[in-house]
Amino acid sequence: PRSIFFSRHGESQYNVEGKIGGDAPLSPRGMQYAKGLPALITDNIGDAPLTVWTSTLQRTIQTAQYLPYNKLTWKSLDELDAGVCDGMTYEEIEQAYPEDFAHRDEDKFNYRYRGGESYRDVVVRLEPVIMELERQENILIIGHQAILRCLYAYFHNLPQADLPYIKIPLHTVIKLTPKAYGCDEERYALPI
Ligand code: F6P
Repeated sequence: PRSIFFSRHGESQYNVEGKIGGDAPLSPRGMQYAKGLPALITDNIGDAPLTVWTSTLQRTIQTAQYLPYNKLTWKSLDELDAGVCDGMTYEEIEQAYPEDFAHRDEDKFNYRYRGGESYRDVVVRLEPVIMELERQENILIIGHQAILRCLYAYFHNLPQADLPYIKIPLHTVIKLTPKAYGCDEERYALPI
C-alpha cells in the first residue's frame, strides 16, 4: 500500500524568534533535522519510489535538500498568508490589532487576516494538491503548520472547527497509509 508522509520544515529562524509567516532560513537545529531526515525516510520505505513535494519557501526547500528523491515545488503549499501580520509575533499582533486577535480566537477556521487568508481559504487553495495526492504513489510533503493541519484533517476526516488546533509538531514525520475507510497513522520524531 502506498503512503503519504507529512513533515513540517525544520525549525526556522522565525520559529526561534516567535514570528509568523515570512521566508526565513532554517536555524542550526532545523539544519540538523534536514540532515537527519534522509536516513529516517529510507529506513522506512527502503528502495520504494518516493516523490518529495515542498512549498516555494526556502525553509521547506532547505529541509528537503539532502533527500535523494525527485522534488516538486508547489505555490499552493506555501504557508497561510497572514497579510499585514506577516513577520509579527502573536504579542505584537495582539497589541496592534486587538479586535482581530480576539476574533481569530472566536472562530479560528473562518478568521481571515487583513490582506491575507483564513484556514477556509487555504482549504480551497489546497483542493488541486489533494486531487493530485489522491492519484499519486508514495509522496513526502515538507510543509508548514497550517497547511499540514488542512491536509491531515482531510485524510482523517476531522471537523473544520478542530482543524486549526491540530498538533503538528516540528521535527516529526507523520506517515498516513490510506485504507478502504480512513487512514493508518504512524509518527517518527527525530530527537534534535
Ligand atoms: O508559527 C509558524 C506558523 O507556521 C506561522 O507561519 C503561521 O502563521 C502559524 O504557524 C499558523 O498557526 P496558527 O494558525 O496556530 O497561528
